[in-house]
Amino acid sequence: MRRLFLSIGLFLVVLNSIASIQTVKTKAKNCEHRADSVVALMTLDEKIGQMVLLTSGADQTGPRMAVNDLEEIKAGRCGNIFNAHTVAYTRKLQEIAIEQTRLGIPLLFGFDVIHGHKTIFPISLGEAASWDMEAIEKSARIAATEAAASGLQWVFAPMVDIARDPRWGRISEGAGEDPFLGCRVAEARVHGFQDNDLSDPSTVLACVKHYAAYGAPQAGRDYSTVDMSERTLREVYLPPYKAAVDAGALSIMTSFNELDGVPSSGNPFLLKDILRKEWGFKGFVVTDYTSINEMVPHGIVANEKEAAGLAVNAGVEMDMQGSVYLKYLKQLISEGKVSEATINKAVRNILKIKFMLGLFDDPYRYCDKNREKQVVFSEENRKAAYDVACKSMVLLKNDKQVLPLAPGKSLAVIGPLADSTEDLLGSWHAAGTTEGVSSLLDNLKKSSGGKVSYAKGCDFSGNDTSGFAEALKIAEQADVVVLVLGEPCGWTGEAASRTSIDLPEIQTKLLQEIRKTNKPVVMVLMNGRPLALERETILVDAILETWYAGTSGGKAIADVLTGMYNPSGKLPVTFPRNLGQVPIFYSMKNTGRPYEKEGLEQKYRSRYIDSPNEPLFPFGFGMSYTRFGYSNLKLSSETLSKEGKLTIYVDLTNSGNYDGAEVVQLYVQDLVGSVTRPLKELKGFQKVFLKKGETRKVEFTLTEKELRFYRRDMSFGSEPGDFKVYVGGDSNATNIKGFRLKQ
Ligand code: NOJ
Repeated sequence: MRRLFLSIGLFLVVLNSIASIQTVKTKAKNCEHRADSVVALMTLDEKIGQMVLLTSGADQTGPRMAVNDLEEIKAGRCGNIFNAHTVAYTRKLQEIAIEQTRLGIPLLFGFDVIHGHKTIFPISLGEAASWDMEAIEKSARIAATEAAASGLQWVFAPMVDIARDPRWGRISEGAGEDPFLGCRVAEARVHGFQDNDLSDPSTVLACVKHYAAYGAPQAGRDYSTVDMSERTLREVYLPPYKAAVDAGALSIMTSFNELDGVPSSGNPFLLKDILRKEWGFKGFVVTDYTSINEMVPHGIVANEKEAAGLAVNAGVEMDMQGSVYLKYLKQLISEGKVSEATINKAVRNILKIKFMLGLFDDPYRYCDKNREKQVVFSEENRKAAYDVACKSMVLLKNDKQVLPLAPGKSLAVIGPLADSTEDLLGSWHAAGTTEGVSSLLDNLKKSSGGKVSYAKGCDFSGNDTSGFAEALKIAEQADVVVLVLGEPCGWTGEAASRTSIDLPEIQTKLLQEIRKTNKPVVMVLMNGRPLALERETILVDAILETWYAGTSGGKAIADVLTGMYNPSGKLPVTFPRNLGQVPIFYSMKNTGRPYEKEGLEQKYRSRYIDSPNEPLFPFGFGMSYTRFGYSNLKLSSETLSKEGKLTIYVDLTNSGNYDGAEVVQLYVQDLVGSVTRPLKELKGFQKVFLKKGETRKVEFTLTEKELRFYRRDMSFGSEPGDFKVYVGGDSNATNIKGFRLKQ
């Protein structure tokens, strides 16, 4: 009883000191002072407890460990919980923290809301293929409202790792290969989650991850070593993390990998020099799952105690699941290896955010059962997910206009993914379930207007061809075959790297057999990474890349196939012809011996003897049911001064038979630099909707700022000289003009 009074008493002291924080927009500075006032009340053990993040017993998203979340919270040994959601459950845990600990400091609840919470949107790579930043922001906003209504205040997203190796299973969680597009997506998602006001109970704290360069593991194997030049790190991999920080993200997660020999959770160059000093980050740093402990097998420290010291001194404020702060920080302080000032600063950064989220005002403000019922998985949210799903789809081939499917045609729907609902949700679908989700097959039955027959044909993999006969039979009887192939959703995401990016052989065999019927074949793909589809592309008439399209994906795919929606997605990542070309991305360098197809002596050129250099489908590529033409590319001037701006104009015409949207892309090439420059770099894009027959002038602006890079001496700036501008509908854009950047 005494403990309870003490607890309530001290809680009231804290509450009194913050009584004035009732304004809608809680100012960070005020929150910092208030956090300090709480820190002053805390014992060292209580402070360390705030630096601990543990999984709830409800779920685990990493190596299994025995957890007793309730006991740890009660003992004040854990100030933050992940993998707990729903109002009922988070409230139960929050009550323990508030009522049974001495100071009653509220818990912070985090969760992996990767592409939607309960209403699942397309996987992030798919969303990036929409090139529609408004749609992406809206998707994050809805995910935030659902998460916040389910008792959460913190999402472990956006994942902004640039990835150029399709073997890596987590390429599905990011925005693809390009830093410019990656930055725009990162900003949109942070804005969507936080909406510039953490004190609004429908927003959540974003957590940018995985800092840094986690998307470049050697050989595409998850968690593997990352080694790259500082120039590449700064020019390609860091920009999206910075863009997210600049957009206001107030937490960041360290990555599992090492970089230049130093694991991220013990890397002061990343955490202090770049994040805090260069970027002015004001939030807190959390590790990934047990990544402090993992510095022992990395071989940078001899034991977990040293790992704890290395991490905290490098600037890691919160230990996810590793319990090493819990076990060793006190001892490290008493030995003088860690200062209490370091701990105070870390705790203040964490509590500041809890103040900003309004948790000290009302720890149960995210625990409203009515709100949960109304908001989560609402019809409105599912409609929004449908909209984004339509926008994410990329038409990769469409010979003889086999798509859209003409009404009334009979369809043979075949393939291991045609009737799947689970796979539509994609990897890591948070609280999403298949409840209320309908497959592509179900939707085609409803909307195609003709007879629809179905045969699975084969499994995802294996050698069983016993289903082929039935598939061939229905193909023979149909007007068009819709063949739904790809990867089961468990083949992408964390710890799901592959050594092959081919379709499993059994699926290709099924396609080869179906081809023999001479029926038009539409290949619908569900997958979370670029696949090598050279053989398949030749065999089919049309290809629609649908990624994993989410809760409303079945209807969205059916509507794109039947022409209810005209596809407008563009690839955010290069699709190679074969794995041997990897890494392959549009912004490669020219080399000293570029391969030119025309010319005399080609042997000693940078090329393969068994494959073309070009990818199967380039970055930025995607077709429409209509046709877009580019003409009259003009620049406002042939020169650009340091203070000036250059306007680029192009006429875009919809000359086909459908209304539709085109993503107009602007690329720049710096011809000569103090270090070599990529052949092309994306510098702008606009998604433009045109009615059939319509022409519109599209304008881009370039300034000197967009031409900056890390020069020979690693200073960031531009260099005067000649540049080329390319405008078009993909990274092979051939509309070219030149200009000169003046001194
Ligand atoms: C490990 C993953 O790398 C990370 O993305 C995730 O947020 C954490 N586990 C928590 O589940």
